[in-house]
Amino acid sequence: MKIAIMGAMAEEIEPLLAQVENIKETTYANNKYYEATYQGKDIVIAYSKIGKVFASLTATILIEKFACDRLLFSGVAGAINKDLSIGDLIVANKLCQHDLDITAFGHPHGFVPEGGQFVYCDEKLLELSKKVAKNLDIHLYEGIIATGDQFVADNDKKAWISDTFCADALEMEGSSVGVICDALDVPFFILRAISDTADDSADVDFDEFLHNSAKISANFILNMVKEIE
Ligand code: ADE
Repeated sequence: MKIAIMGAMAEEIEPLLAQVENIKETTYANNKYYEATYQGKDIVIAYSKIGKVFASLTATILIEKFACDRLLFSGVAGAINKDLSIGDLIVANKLCQHDLDITAFGHPHGFVPEGGQFVYCDEKLLELSKKVAKNLDIHLYEGIIATGDQFVADNDKKAWISDTFCADALEMEGSSVGVICDALDVPFFILRAISDTADDSADVDFDEFLHNSAKISANFILNMVKEIE
């Protein structure tokens, strides 16, 4: 087994690189990939750069070039659900693309023919995350994550995403990674720690809490890697 661990930004993978061993760096398609080991397990770490296109490219390369057969995403998100506070962890049970719109043809938001409105995370990894959270005595939220190529810092937009998709959190990569993994038959898991609440102070909060929330997410992911069989 080879486990891919992906983030979108350098800040999201730095706490991972600080804790793994035997790092070998490879540059491919204008990006760096770090093969490494953690607790005797083979892993490959990369950050994609922000947004769905780069995230899709990196997920594909992790699977097709580096032969990863599980993919775990670690990063930060904006909260929609009022129960989520900065630093809280949320795992997606399903994800959607909030900016995919062919409603002009009578389809629901986020839907694409021959695709679906949502993509679903791997059940076994979801179950494992609950076990890990219990052992660590961490509250892990489970919910719907909405992805789009926009940093949302606006209450009206946030309310629209909430009403349209019942989403609990939003970010800019998860759903595209899910679509790639689903197509290539690789079980995937999307974890995010809250960095902001996607409102008019989201930009300031994001800058303030990015590092700490990224670390919270990365630490949880490494605890999952320990347990993956
Ligand atoms: N990732 C973290 N916060 C976000 C936000 N407010 N919008 C989009 N992606 C995010």
